[in-house]
Amino acid sequence: MAAPDCGGIRVAVIFHSGEGHTATLAQAVLRGVEESGANGELFDAATAILRMQELQRFDALVFGSPTYMGSVSAGFKAFMEESRLARGQWRDKLAAGFTNSASQSGDKLNTLVQLAIFAAQHGMLWVSLGLRAGNNSTQGSVDDLNRLGSFLGAMAQSNVDQGAEQAPPESDRATAFCLGQRVATVARQMRYGVTQ
Ligand SMILES: Cc1cc2nc3c(=O)[nH]c(=O)nc-3n(C[C@H](O)[C@H](O)[C@H](O)COP(=O)(O)O)c2cc1C
Repeated sequence: MAAPDCGGIRVAVIFHSGEGHTATLAQAVLRGVEESGANGELFDAATAILRMQELQRFDALVFGSPTYMGSVSAGFKAFMEESRLARGQWRDKLAAGFTNSASQSGDKLNTLVQLAIFAAQHGMLWVSLGLRAGNNSTQGSVDDLNRLGSFLGAMAQSNVDQGAEQAPPESDRATAFCLGQRVATVARQMRYGVTQ
């Protein structure tokens, strides 16, 4: 299918990653954004703090953090707290989120909830993952899209003994790609209305 014309839609992907696994997901989200015809840009959380004012020019902000101790990482939390300086600037922009951790659950849902509340504190509009749950029947497998069965945002799982070249697996990267596509598509619809 041809990429839709997103005419100037801009999406920022803001993430923290200690060992590179969440960074891999951020890149997958970015690919989804760009293959939908929108313009995407990656910001690691430390850079985003320094370039906070630039985030105003984006239509949508996608937030990504590893799950550390059942919550967003300290690196991402630093960005969250510094963003108080941008209060009011992100109102009515789109937001979405993704997270990655070692365990299948690992309390990742709490991280996505934190990200959604963070977006709400800025008056943003949260975009859910929008995929059916995978790997939940006898026909399912870990290769399914949305294999961890998340709805609020994209979840990924990376084995502790695998580096970022190997984990998270392709199914999780594809799930993150879909999140990027969806955010770009919804941003286009918000600006131009729903088109065929
Ligand atoms: C300080 C710390 C806390 C962690 N807490 C959790 C946790 O609560 N649940 C979990 O499943 N994995 C946990 N992990 C594992 C990481 O989520 C996992 O290694 C992830 O792939 C790291 O992503 P990154 O490479 O982007 O930092 C923790 C790792 C660290 C370093």
